[in-house]
Parts: sequence; structure tokens; C-alpha cells
Amino acid sequence: MTQRSNQVAVAPPVPQVAPPLAALLELTHRCPLQCPYCSNPLELERVQAELSTEAWLRVIGELADLGVLQIHFSGGEPTVRHDLVDFVRHGAERGLYSNLITSGAAIDRGRFQELVDAGLDHVQLSFQDAEAKSAERISHVRGIQDKKYTFASWVRESGLPLTVNAVIHRQNIDHVDDMIALAVKLDAARLEVAHAQYYGWGLANRAALMPSRSQLEAVTRKVNIARETYRGRLVIDYVVPDYYAQQPKSCMGGWGRQFLNITPSGKVLPCHAAETIPGLQFDSVAHHSLGEIWQNSQAFQRFRGTDWMPEPCRSCDQREIDWGGCRCQALAIAGDAAATDPSCAKSSLHSKMLSLATGEATATAPEFRYRRFSSAGGVSPVTQVADSRRNLD
Ligand code: SF4
Ligand code: FES
Repeated sequence: MTQRSNQVAVAPPVPQVAPPLAALLELTHRCPLQCPYCSNPLELERVQAELSTEAWLRVIGELADLGVLQIHFSGGEPTVRHDLVDFVRHGAERGLYSNLITSGAAIDRGRFQELVDAGLDHVQLSFQDAEAKSAERISHVRGIQDKKYTFASWVRESGLPLTVNAVIHRQNIDHVDDMIALAVKLDAARLEVAHAQYYGWGLANRAALMPSRSQLEAVTRKVNIARETYRGRLVIDYVVPDYYAQQPKSCMGGWGRQFLNITPSGKVLPCHAAETIPGLQFDSVAHHSLGEIWQNSQAFQRFRGTDWMPEPCRSCDQREIDWGGCRCQALAIAGDAAATDPSCAKSSLHSKMLSLATGEATATAPEFRYRRFSSAGGVSPVTQVADSRRNLD
């Protein structure tokens, strides 16, 4: 036997990937609201498929072990989970910073206080509009605005920092000044003025949501003025619509670099819309540890880093800044998740994307297709807060 044949074949070491900074836990897809720009998938996961209390507690422990710093409790509406307090407490015990992303429509004061006592760190409250009637039409829930004002007052009385999230689109874009005033009145620390992003239900409703370029420019001016006016009192984050951009956003801070998303049934995704991409296999926390999934799963490896990139990304000096933009948007516009993000001016489809936006923005807005469990969508009368539970299962 030669010396050579005595050698044991050793696989080259797999490079370790730095842990994610943050995780979005979609505890449930149930929600009393039906916002037409929701980023949840059109096929919502039903209550029967949701992870158990024990499974979510294990996942939160694994996230802490992995080195994650922040957990965002989201949905759907996370407060409809009866065990949310247990999750917040466990996260706090494991040293995780917790953020509750909520509509404020499905929680009473006693339960909110339980979350505070359990160690919740931050609340992000969505508003559909500053104008109550319009907010009812967009959320499809009557009486929603008063509920939100009340909830916001509980948050401020608790001493927790409040972020107001205002999703902007062509049907509320003229009320941006009022949204900014609303955030100031509620004593929010931060306001997110976020143009609708076109994923999930947002993509299905794109023509009903797309603003014109002049509307976008007007909002940008107003936000810049408000930033000066409220400097030191209110931080304003501004998310622009990709369709009018010249350069893509660094979606999720790069695929599989900083962020993971867990669906109600436990599938682990690199972003909230990743399930739209054909050919990706999403491992579940029911069968694998989060560490294994983060390091090795096919879905996380597929667009991680820069090796997957086509030209012009491959030789572009921005490739480690925007990480090639958004894969889900490339799929939606180019039909190929591995294509250059069409929001980049270097993409051959950039002008197509722009004319799509301008064409939709100037046509009459179609009716909203409301976010519902039934894939039929459609339009129905606005529901009351009290009977909006029909969207909960
Ligand atoms: Fe980003 Fe690719 Fe455009 Fe360069 S060519 S800016 S890497 S999307
Ligand atoms: Fe999926 Fe941007 S939303 S990569």
C-alpha cells in the first residue's frame, strides 16, 4: 500500500457564515385587517399549520444560541397568538431585543401590560392613513383608527419607544403631511414613511397602489422638510419605491447575510417573499436546527455572496454594497430570480420597469383585492372591528 493510498480523503472545510443580526417571526398569518399591500403570500398559512408554543420557544432559544440580536414578532397579527407573552418573556431571558409589529387592533390593555412586564423592548404600530375613513377603507375594518389611537397611548404610557409605520401609495399619498403630524401627536420616537413594496398582496394590487413620479417627488420633498422641522424630536425613515429608482436597494442587507424569516408553520426563508421563487427548498425548524439551516440550506446558499451573479453585477463595483438588489423583484419583472434587479439602471429591463410603473400610475386605479384567506380575494363591505375575527382563521 503506498503512502498516497493511506491518506484519508478529507472534505475541504465549509466556510462559516456570520450569524444573522435579526429574525422576523411570522407567528401567524391570521389578522383582523385586510391591507391590500400586505407582503404575506397569497396562499396564507392557516391556524392548523402554525407551530406550537413549545416549538416557537425552542426556536427563540436557538436564535439566541446562533447569535441573533433582535427578534421581530410579526404576522399577520402576532397578538392573536395566546402565547405571545411566553415568547416575549423567553426572548428577554435569552437577551434578545424584541420588537412587536402590530396593527394594535387585537389586544386589550391588560394583555399589553403583560407584554411590557415580560420584557418587550419596542413597538411598531401601523397606520393605514391619517384620515379615519380612508384608513377604514384600506384596512377594511370600521373603527380601526380609534383603536390605534388608544393602543398608541398605552404604548407611550408604558414608556416603551413607539415607531409609527405608514405605508404610502397612490390612494393615501396626499395625506403624508397629516401622517407626519399624527406621529408627532402620538409622541412617536420614529416614523417610517414607506412606499408600498410590491410583494405578495402588494404585487397583486400594484396597479391600485402605484404612485406617479410627481407624487413620489412631492412626498420626498415633504419628508425632507419634516426631517428638518422635527430634528431631535422625531426620526423619519423613508423607503422609496423601487420602480422609480436608479439603483437597487440592498434587499435584506444581502441574501442570507443578516436576516432570516420564519413562517407560521416553521419554514425558514431568506426573505418574506422567497417562496415565490421556483426551485428553492425551504427547510423547516421542525426537522433541522436553525444553525444548520442558516449555514447549509439550499435556499440560503442559492443567492448568498456574489458567485451567483450574472453580468453586469459580476463586475460591478456596487456588488458588495447592494448585493445585486432584490431576487424576488427580479423574478417578478424579469421572470428570472437570478437576473439583475430591473430597478438597477444597468439592467436591460430597467426602462420596462419604469414604463410599467408610469402606465399603472396614470391609469384608473382598480378596486383593491383585499388580503384574505380565501384566494378569491374580491371586494366586500367594510367590516367592524368586532366582526373582523372572520379574517382570523
Ligand atoms: Fe447592483 Fe448589479 Fe446594478 Fe451593480 S449592476 S448596481 S451590483 S444590481
Ligand atoms: Fe426577496 Fe428582496 S424580497 S430578495
